[in-house]
Amino acid sequence: MMEKKAIIERNRQYWDAIAEEYQDEIDICVNDFHYGPLVPGDCDLHLLPEDVKGLRCYEFGCGAAQNSLYLASRGAVCVASDISLEQLEEANRISESLNLSIETLHMGMEEALPDSYGKFDLVHSSYALAFSPEPDKVVANCASLLKPGGVLLFSTGHPLFSGEWLMIDDDEGLFVKDYFQPEPDIRYNRLGEEVARAVFYPIGQMADWILNAGLQIERIVEPAPVKLDTCDLEEMMQKVPYFSESWSEYYEQLKHYPVVVIFKCRRP
Ligand SMILES: C[S@@+](CC[C@H](N)C(=O)[O-])C[C@H]1O[C@@H](n2cnc3c(N)ncnc32)[C@H](O)[C@@H]1O
Repeated sequence: MMEKKAIIERNRQYWDAIAEEYQDEIDICVNDFHYGPLVPGDCDLHLLPEDVKGLRCYEFGCGAAQNSLYLASRGAVCVASDISLEQLEEANRISESLNLSIETLHMGMEEALPDSYGKFDLVHSSYALAFSPEPDKVVANCASLLKPGGVLLFSTGHPLFSGEWLMIDDDEGLFVKDYFQPEPDIRYNRLGEEVARAVFYPIGQMADWILNAGLQIERIVEPAPVKLDTCDLEEMMQKVPYFSESWSEYYEQLKHYPVVVIFKCRRP
């Protein structure tokens, strides 16, 4: 078993190496708040606070920080962090091109933000927690960053997405070998060596991390994909806040089980 530090460092190298390709391949919009591949954004799901103007927001595992940029465009004051400098460079490039100001920080989500940052109204993250070898610690850190009444809103890989889509006789469906010990999503290099992994934990286990951190769970959302049956590629790109051609190949499957789970939590 690799040490946690080594897993985090390997993740950093992986995301630095693929940052440019990831941002080129995936179409991530800045005029909605996205939760993951093919699923509706917040303009449809309405999980964000109604008015974010003036709210202090912190995003971890931000990638190119499109969600923070969306919030900044609505008047929020945003800090966004990621372990990959290359991803943050993309964030800085996009924010400059949009003339939006956010603060980016190079750090792992397992690290505590310096006390000087104070407390936040909203801590958020999309599809990043699964890459941490210490997700329970990350949730506890986030809880400690919230003002009373503050919101933690995050999406991560749904545990059913660890399953395998199988064709059996004339039928097809999802095969889940072990819900409680999910198969990790392992990324390999050309030599077949593992370079990163994500784990999509059981919902109950994630709920325990949240409750143990002293937060209340307000919503658990398991979104179905945006309806795309009659859309061509261009329409799909317009309709889906986080889209790529390769993700669109999962569309028929993802009508039957969720790709992400979203937790909306509040500090009492
Ligand atoms: C699938 S991407 C999602 C990025 C962004 N949230 C989005 O929706 O586009 C996962 C992100 O998590 C970051 N990441 C992975 N491990 C991390 C860690 N231990 N601490 C902070 N960020 C990490 C990666 O660099 C990458 O930007």
